[in-house]
Amino acid sequence: MKDIVLSGIRPTGNLHLGNYYGAVRSFVKMQNEMNCYFFIADWHSLTTHPTPENIQQSARTILAEYLACGLDPDKATIYIQSDVPETIELYLYFNMNTYIGELGRVTTFKEKARQQPDNVNAGLFTYPTLMAADILQHRAKWVPVGKDQEQNMEMARKCARRFNNIYKTEFFPEPQNFYFGGEAVKVPGLDGSGKMGKSDGNCIYLYEDEKVVRKKVMRAVTDNGPQAPNSEKPEVIQNLFTLMHIVSDEETYKYFDEKWNDCTLRYGDMKKQLAEDMVRTLNPIRERIEEYKGNTELLDRIARQGAEKARESASTTLREVRKIIGFKVY
Ligand code: ADP
Ligand code: TRP
Repeated sequence: MKDIVLSGIRPTGNLHLGNYYGAVRSFVKMQNEMNCYFFIADWHSLTTHPTPENIQQSARTILAEYLACGLDPDKATIYIQSDVPETIELYLYFNMNTYIGELGRVTTFKEKARQQPDNVNAGLFTYPTLMAADILQHRAKWVPVGKDQEQNMEMARKCARRFNNIYKTEFFPEPQNFYFGGEAVKVPGLDGSGKMGKSDGNCIYLYEDEKVVRKKVMRAVTDNGPQAPNSEKPEVIQNLFTLMHIVSDEETYKYFDEKWNDCTLRYGDMKKQLAEDMVRTLNPIRERIEEYKGNTELLDRIARQGAEKARESASTTLREVRKIIGFKVY
């Protein structure tokens, strides 16, 4: 049996280069080797955005972007969280065995509670048990997540462990954080900060057109230029080189690296080249995003097919769970 992998993303923004090179490109490889579930966590987004403008459209957008990156609905199960009602039942059982003390200690809860003091809702508080249900309804073994999700993963393991202890079973595996191998890279931001993330000046989105991409790259933060031969690169400049390493070929990288080393590098030239290579990389992805987004029927069909597969797996788990606790099984 292939290992089960699950990853979720909240539909609160578009995919950017960081998501692509840091995660989605690895998903594309993983779908060939493992039993993968990729889903869009639209229920979770209600914890912070209670009145979404067009939640179905946002979910479809991420779906289109996932598909454009190469996720394949015939290889992986790609679905939207709210299409799988079984999740809620498992969420309820986990909530019964999770204590308010431990939920209150979760850092992301405390942060969000500070950010939205007028809306410290029970959904936000129980975010980790919904996430545990997402994962454990498929009895997933691996979850690729970033550092900020470690506490949520610890809670998911607790839900699995506690269920097993209380009901004297070994039904749930303890899901583990999955760390990508060498191929996933940390993508630096354009504003000189460490990491590309969802903020405009720092980030290049996969859907953005050529003109915007070029403009953003040309505006990337730099400094006064190399001061002495062969000197170490300050972070802002290293970031440009790292981006170049990601999207350009090795020769191009070497050419500019040598120019840095002999102090003849002009950032304008380097950025022009970087923009060129970025556009070349992104163009086919953007074109596919547009194609998918224009075909709502296809997206809905793919989502339906994903939901069917996800519900099949979740309902098998839920049947067992009901049996274990002692409820009627249909
Ligand atoms: P953001 O940080 O923009 O909010 P998310 O938290 O939605 O992005 O990211 C989802 C996943 O994408 C992360 O778990 C991580 O694997 C990957 N990711 C995001 N930003 C980067 C980045 N700059 N470099 C590498 N991977 C990233
Ligand atoms: N909490 C995750 C995030 O903010 C999204 C998410 C929801 C998730 N459920 C999940 C991730 C289950 C992995 C597994 O990025």
